[in-house]
Amino acid sequence: MKLQSLLFCAVVLTFFGCKEDEPAVISPPPQPQYKLTDFERAEACSTCHPQYFDEWNGSMHRYSTSDPIWMLANNAIQASMNGGLGKTCFQCHAPLGFLTDNTKPTFQFSELNEQVREGITCDFCHVLRPPFKTTDQHIEYTLQPGRIKYGTLDNPVAAGVHENGYDASYDRSESCRQCHDLIVNHIPLEITFTEWQNSPWGAMSVECQDCHMQTYTGRAAIGGPVRDNLHRHDFVGVDVAITDFPNKPQQHASIDSLLKNSATLSVDAPAQVNVSESVKVAVTVYNDKTGHNLPTSVFFNRQMWIEVTAWKGTDTVYRSGHLDANGDLMDANSALNPNADPDLTIFNGALFKNGEPSNVVQLDSLVNKTIPPFGSHTANYVFQPDAVGTWNIKVRLLFRPFGPYLFRSLDAGQYVSELPIFEMNTETRQVVVQ
Ligand code: HEC
Ligand code: HEC
Ligand code: HEC
Ligand code: HEC
Ligand code: HEC
Repeated sequence: MKLQSLLFCAVVLTFFGCKEDEPAVISPPPQPQYKLTDFERAEACSTCHPQYFDEWNGSMHRYSTSDPIWMLANNAIQASMNGGLGKTCFQCHAPLGFLTDNTKPTFQFSELNEQVREGITCDFCHVLRPPFKTTDQHIEYTLQPGRIKYGTLDNPVAAGVHENGYDASYDRSESCRQCHDLIVNHIPLEITFTEWQNSPWGAMSVECQDCHMQTYTGRAAIGGPVRDNLHRHDFVGVDVAITDFPNKPQQHASIDSLLKNSATLSVDAPAQVNVSESVKVAVTVYNDKTGHNLPTSVFFNRQMWIEVTAWKGTDTVYRSGHLDANGDLMDANSALNPNADPDLTIFNGALFKNGEPSNVVQLDSLVNKTIPPFGSHTANYVFQPDAVGTWNIKVRLLFRPFGPYLFRSLDAGQYVSELPIFEMNTETRQVVVQ
């Protein structure tokens, strides 16, 4: 490979492969064929379930098909594999399109059927049935579209338009598993469910729903009884809508609050040193509140990192975790200052094929730097104050859904300004240098 394209690979995301592979057709096997008319539109549910509609309508499940980053990534991989990707990505991101064959190998959003564009919709989740089977890259859905809508309500009142079916699995992580546990080429890749299942949270039966569908008191349907164990449908995570989308300010506030309750930060710094000594600061991040790795799923593209600043007045003696003029962290992905921040601690990862950067479907190995549940990571920083006096140290744990370099590499640079940085935790210390 030419040096230039090698460098391109080093800075470019893991969505693309850089090797010219012979296209392997990995498209999932056909499913029992459904028709779009087997499923109802979400608006049909909103007349009686307006609260559910509003929350879902501002959720990432609603956004899963419309997300331009997903669409561009799908199209880029499809192109690099000469069409061999098939419908792989549609399985989870546009399940109705996948099941009814309303897909396009590469597509513009506007080309998709409007009902498919609803993403992961009410009348997909509420007709999904056990055994929730999934194998390497392939999901085998069992669906029972039609009159019965499944849930966990006690003694539901007659709905008229549909029947109610009780299914205890809706209250358990297993019902989320098919889309939130992705194995590719026998490599556990985006395995939120498995991380959860192998953790004390799994052992204690603290389910996905307990953290991502919080309970409240209200009416499940207009005219129904008041109940005290209803479930929120906004499915807050870390991802933000980058195009016009309902409830964006609320989405940002909810993510901020989830992330502020994800981890504990502790900072160990001396209170006092002699002017000839260096200052040693140990920063520990504990994943004591998140039910799976931190971050999880598309960890190779997420950015959770430690920012450290040490200063006195206008004299900054040490910085790590700051951004270059493009807004990128100064690791290998920085176009302006590559690898200019050797101390950078970022909890992401990378995908490889034959030792070179790989996309998400052709990988043969990966590096995962995320923190498992109840695990921790300590990063050490050393700096040399250049004068006596009181020095300030500020440490922040920060999160950004994606790095700007990744958007630019997908020709989506216009959305960079939509990428927020969330502050998860912050600590300050003072060191007296004498
Ligand atoms: C097994 C189900 C599954 C498959 C198959 C799948 N994804 Fe995803 N994808 C997810 C889930 C779940 C998330 C959300 C995870 C998170 O927020 O950390 C996600 C998130 C993403 C994101 C970040 C959010 C966004 O939409 O911008 C991108 C981009 C993405 N996937 C692209 C793809 C592409 C491209 C493919 C096909 C190569 C694909 N996915 C296949 C389940 C899947
Ligand atoms: C004409 C009003 C009406 C419409 C339209 C409607 N529902 Fe319902 N639904 C109800 C009522 C009433 C209940 C029971 C509420 C209660 O007992 O608290 C209910 C209950 C449910 C439950 C709980 C089932 C259980 O056993 O736990 C689900 C899930 C559900 N509806 C989904 C849907 C979906 C999906 C749609 C759209 C395809 C929809 N509903 C359309 C009135 C309606
Ligand atoms: C004990 C609470 C808890 C449980 C249980 C839990 N989560 Fe989470 N989840 C969180 C917190 C806190 C975050 C934000 C931190 C992060 O990104 O990991 C999060 C983030 C996420 C994200 C976005 C992650 C990212 O970093 O891109 C997804 C997707 C997700 N959870 C899905 C699930 C699924 C599926 C389950 C069940 C298998 C589950 N969660 C169980 C607390 C929980
Ligand atoms: C990603 C899957 C998913 C989507 C999409 C979804 N739901 Fe649900 N819904 C659930 C789960 C899971 C539960 C049960 C949670 C539990 O019992 O812990 C539930 C519960 C319900 C209930 C029963 C009352 C309650 O709060 O537990 C109603 C009614 C309902 N959903 C309606 C809807 C409507 C209407 C939509 C679309 C606007 C929708 N759901 C979209 C997964 C989903
Ligand atoms: C049909 C597949 C599917 C099912 C079933 C499903 N999800 Fe998702 N989920 C996705 C996809 C795809 C995304 C990413 C959408 C995006 O970011 O564009 C997602 C996003 C999320 C997010 C937001 C992640 C973020 O970073 O913002 C959370 C939280 C979540 N799902 C939790 C759940 C829980 C809990 C369940 C089970 C009750 C569940 N999901 C069932 C496919 C699914």
